[in-house]
Amino acid sequence: MNEIREKILNELKEKVNEVKNIQEFQVLKSKFLGKKGEISNLMKQISKVEKEKRKEFGAFVNNIKKEAEELLNEAFENLKSKIKEEEEKKNWVDITLPGARRKIGYEHILKQTIREVYEIFSNIGYKIVEGPEIETTWHNFDALNTPEWHPARDMQDTFYIKDNIILRTHTSPVQVRTMLTHEPPLAIISPGRVYRKDEPDATHSPAFNQIEGLYIDKNVTVGHLKATLEKFLTMYFGGSRKVLLRPSYFPFVEPGYEVDVDCMFCGGKGCNVCKGTGWIEILGAGLVHPNVLKNVGYDPEIWQGFAFGTGVERIAMLKHGIADMREFYRNDMRFLGL
Ligand code: DAH
Repeated sequence: MNEIREKILNELKEKVNEVKNIQEFQVLKSKFLGKKGEISNLMKQISKVEKEKRKEFGAFVNNIKKEAEELLNEAFENLKSKIKEEEEKKNWVDITLPGARRKIGYEHILKQTIREVYEIFSNIGYKIVEGPEIETTWHNFDALNTPEWHPARDMQDTFYIKDNIILRTHTSPVQVRTMLTHEPPLAIISPGRVYRKDEPDATHSPAFNQIEGLYIDKNVTVGHLKATLEKFLTMYFGGSRKVLLRPSYFPFVEPGYEVDVDCMFCGGKGCNVCKGTGWIEILGAGLVHPNVLKNVGYDPEIWQGFAFGTGVERIAMLKHGIADMREFYRNDMRFLGL
């Protein structure tokens, strides 16, 4: 009899160690304790045993059953804690690892450039003002001494919204708007987007940014203009910059100049960037034309002033060594992270 007991329980002990999951455990359990299981088969035999031995045999079978149940219960508890342990291992998180880094945004170079220019000019008393991008032809051209028949108007042909409403071609109309609403003296700079019918390439874009400057006071001369621009370009590009005024024509200034700065790449000796001249064209400027002053109701006998305009992309490209203007608008992360 003991052999039977040992055979059953040893087999159970062996199998119970091989069980890997709940399903396998259930199969094993029913193999031993199920209706058709080995122990049930023994139970069925109790009635067949002779009367005198039946009690003893019954007790024997019940003991086996009890032992098997205990073994299985213990195995089930072990299995549960093993599964739990594995689950925990799988979901383990190393809280000492550094977290995922978020990329921090940068101020766009164009905004940065406008801010730098504004910081330079605000230190010498200039105020920042803004004007609309949708502008009347009167503010954009006529008031700036550029009547309809004027050939200079063709050079800045633009996007017309209506006959006399356009996307501004330059920031110069902000001069007009400011003078119309403010009494002199005044000193302002005005950054913003401007629009021209240009094909995009490395140095052109149908929408780009300018910064306009305007200074109105009594007894203003070209000397004031030159000193102001020298100060601005020195502060912006660094070093000690020289400025060259080349006489040029803009309808709203007289005299008018194209302004060059000595090349910051070769120090004026001549290189690829300055095409061997030692100078880089950077601004348009001049003394505000008396007709412009009259158009806004200022008396040119009392008030004079100078004005200048520069391209934000242009000065940023020179300062940061950017070869293609289109980079500013592509939003390539590698460029923006400069
Ligand atoms: N508005 C001119 C342009 O877009 C630039 C300019 C030239 C502005 C001379 C000025 C100036 O204020 O005095 O090309």
